Amino acid sequence: MRGRIPDNFIDELLTRVDIVDVIERRVPLKKAGREWTACCPFHNERSPSFYVSPQKQFFHCFGCGAHGSAIKFLMDYDRLEFPDAIEELAQSVGLKVPYEGGRDDKPREDRSDLYTLLDEAASFYQRELGGSDEARAYVKRRGLDADTLARFRVGWAPAGFDGVLKALGTTDRRRQLLNDAGMVASNEKGNRYDRFRERVMFPILDRRGRVIAFGGRVLSSDQGPKYLNSPETALFHKGRELFALWQVKQANANLTRIMVVEGYMDVIALHQAGLPIAVATLGTATTPDHAEVLFRAAPDVYFCFDGDRAGRQAAWRALESTLPRMRDGRQAHFLFLPDGEDPDTLVRKEGKEGIEKRMKDAMPLSEYFFEELARDVDVSRLDGRARLAERARPLIARLPDGAFRDLMADELQRRTGARAVLDAEAATGRATPPPRAGNVQRSLVRSAITLLLAQPALADEVAPPYPFLRLDRPGVALLAELIDIARNRPGINPAVLVEAFMDRPEYPSLQKLMQAEVVGEADMQRVEFFDALTQMERQAASQRLEHLIAQHRDGLLDGAGVAELRALLAARAAPAPAEGR
Ligand code: UTP
Ligand code: MN
Repeated sequence: MRGRIPDNFIDELLTRVDIVDVIERRVPLKKAGREWTACCPFHNERSPSFYVSPQKQFFHCFGCGAHGSAIKFLMDYDRLEFPDAIEELAQSVGLKVPYEGGRDDKPREDRSDLYTLLDEAASFYQRELGGSDEARAYVKRRGLDADTLARFRVGWAPAGFDGVLKALGTTDRRRQLLNDAGMVASNEKGNRYDRFRERVMFPILDRRGRVIAFGGRVLSSDQGPKYLNSPETALFHKGRELFALWQVKQANANLTRIMVVEGYMDVIALHQAGLPIAVATLGTATTPDHAEVLFRAAPDVYFCFDGDRAGRQAAWRALESTLPRMRDGRQAHFLFLPDGEDPDTLVRKEGKEGIEKRMKDAMPLSEYFFEELARDVDVSRLDGRARLAERARPLIARLPDGAFRDLMADELQRRTGARAVLDAEAATGRATPPPRAGNVQRSLVRSAITLLLAQPALADEVAPPYPFLRLDRPGVALLAELIDIARNRPGINPAVLVEAFMDRPEYPSLQKLMQAEVVGEADMQRVEFFDALTQMERQAASQRLEHLIAQHRDGLLDGAGVAELRALLAARAAPAPAEGR
């Protein structure tokens, strides 16, 4: 049981560890004067603004503002809870963490007991496997050898409703913990019973090898869902965990590639066949968190899916989750299996060599990306290429700034003749989710500003009153101001235009936007610029429409307002210019 960690221990620990060591082990640092520097691991960037100070034992990123001690770094980078970060640091310098007052802690906050209990559950299931003929016959039929059974701690949840409860729930507190760990469920009457019954049990381990959850498989298909997983608990977050990552790390000192497959049995069969590089998501789609965990484990990630529709869909979702994580140096590959096969069946037929060959022939992300997007598109036609470009652009924008994004933009251009306008900041940010509406609009304003800064003469063609000014978004007024200045000073050079804002808070952002790379030739940029203005105008109209509808609902609209509302609704009913999907 863990209690509180005394402050003086934390202070001592921080005097013993060197933050440069701690970070260097995870992020390669370069010496820069008295400090060390790197491209920030917490946001995507091309030139380093992340600094580590050995004097101050402190890291700081001038780009995204991330900063803190070695503890904070471990929490953010390894995604550890505070006590785990302390444990990790203490271990690295050979100190033992003293906990005080553990016994007084509320049981629910005491995670070490959850871990202990889950570990006991795994051992219980393992013992039960030994005692069950039918379970042993099943795992034998599936071809699992003794070593594999032990390595994965495969077990058996016996029939009956209280096997685990009786064996492990010996006190009130332990029964409560079993509940918190998702091992037991309760019916309406509040009676507890084992969640897993008559299932082959696969423990799910965290990155430190501790049991945090289980998956259980029925022996035959008429016994409810084929696989049952633990629910989300304090310890188990499906969107982050990968089955067998621990075993993969144990088996490979230097991991260069990792393969994601769909099922528990697939993972296990691959490991047993001499490919201890397989992991699986746990009955969920691949999330961006998964993608990050995968790339931190190995630079080459192979996604392996069934060739059927569902598999293709899952693969595309994996690709979408991977895009924001594709920093330079990382590679994703997609591997589709023949119909009716999964890695388990295939590795038994073709052996390790067969899988190796399939990995070699796997599609690189770039190829899969363009092939899938062009699937129902006739690229020999102009409108087909336009559609492809329109689909690809927002996805390419999700790639982190870097050589790979540039190459993808080039490839788009090669295939369609159209360029991806790259807004340097649109795709940055650590946990970049698919951009939400707000982001999209903001990046639209950003794009417009970026394009204008590249070519101030564009302003000559924009006549006031600017219809986009009605859009209520950060940066809109600034854009208008830039256009005004550029109109008044024909031939103004971009740097001078930005310098006009020297004393203003917007100055640093403008400088950044001016440095942002604008891909493509001048006339194409011009099209993009006016396209952005038109879209902003359209968004302004729908903002206004929403506002008027709300006022109308509240009875606040006068005659002029009603007329405006009508006009807007009529305009919306008219077919808008092609907007893609
Ligand atoms: P599959 O149905 O492909 O199973 O599910 P499998 O891995 O080939 O299993 P075997 O070979 O029949 O034993 C793939 C994965 O989807 C999740 C599990 O993680 C499973 O391993 N799944 C499947 C569930 O969570 N629940 C289910 O009911 C089915
Ligand atoms: Mn299978």
